[in-house]
Amino acid sequence: MSMDNKKMIFSGAQPTGSLTMGNYIGAIKNWKALEDEYNCIYSIVDLHSLTARQDPKKFKEMCISFLAQYLACGLDAKKNIIFFQSHVRQHTELAWILSCHTYLGELNRMTQFKEKSEKHRENINAGLFTYPVLQAADILLYQTSKVPVGEDQKQHLELSRDIAIRFNNTYGEIFVVPEHHIPKIGAKIMSLQEPNKKMSKSDENMNGTIFLMDTEQVTLKKIKRAVTDDRGKVAYNDEQLGIKNLMTIYSTLTKECVEKIEEKYAGKGYGAFKKDVAEIVIEHLRPFRAKYAELMNNRECLVDVYKEGAERAEEIAEKTMKKVRDNIGFIK
Ligand code: TYM
Repeated sequence: MSMDNKKMIFSGAQPTGSLTMGNYIGAIKNWKALEDEYNCIYSIVDLHSLTARQDPKKFKEMCISFLAQYLACGLDAKKNIIFFQSHVRQHTELAWILSCHTYLGELNRMTQFKEKSEKHRENINAGLFTYPVLQAADILLYQTSKVPVGEDQKQHLELSRDIAIRFNNTYGEIFVVPEHHIPKIGAKIMSLQEPNKKMSKSDENMNGTIFLMDTEQVTLKKIKRAVTDDRGKVAYNDEQLGIKNLMTIYSTLTKECVEKIEEKYAGKGYGAFKKDVAEIVIEHLRPFRAKYAELMNNRECLVDVYKEGAERAEEIAEKTMKKVRDNIGFIK
């Protein structure tokens, strides 16, 4: 990747559990689509995962698996910078500096903090609270113009913008003020079991989440059991959230518009529709599974990718940090 005049893209996912259809449709599928037009940096944000307790051995394995999953989704390690967040120390350095320019009131408003601290009452740590500041550091370090994410990250991105603007007003134009890049359709894939709730890596009910690593049989079973309604009509509306969600998955994977899908299944029952959705998902993920298995059998290649990624990322991050340190007035 040459550092030409192309604009910068940054995004990341937490290496906890494994990637879901929500992560894929809401984010990673769109990362791939940007790789020619922009300079793209995609991180496995392992520092963010520490807000929940991790078993060191399992964590290590999960991080490597995540890298293989990123690549198996089709991300090209030559075109994009792919790296582990903890390998580039500038992230934590900038996070501290930005935390001194973020107000408690701003962090208190973050809905994800409220949700997570409600769910994990036994471990409401300070990192969970300052999580969005580290996320802002991730983004601002690379002079990022656009951040491709799902709907649930919108609030964190708005905070990143506010911090960038405040910092620039205080110390001079240092950061590009980033914009979010959220898909029109598929920005919030819902649980198959509770279609009014986001599909999540950490859902206790695994039947609600399609993992990219699920076997074909499991995928088929989950989709067949997806909660629907008793209207019996394949239609895209907010009264039929289960069907709407399945149509969203169908539409984003095939690029067929929802009107076409409605037409196709007019007069047909949900059984036929669900069977087709399952087939589309399974077909779509077939190359992913093959590539994943191949990569996990070739660990050296994975090491090369993350080492090179960290080197290239650090070079860009350090340029920004030099400016930050200078403008703040730290002695050189
Ligand atoms: P994470 O790991 O929860 O999710 C990774 C990406 O997947 C999107 N996503 C979804 N999209 C649609 N439907 C869903 N059900 C769904 N679930 C997840 C998320 O919006 C996200 O884009 N805080 C971030 C990680 C992060 C980050 C960053 C992202 C850290 N630093 C800097 C962008 C830029 C997170 O926890 O994502």
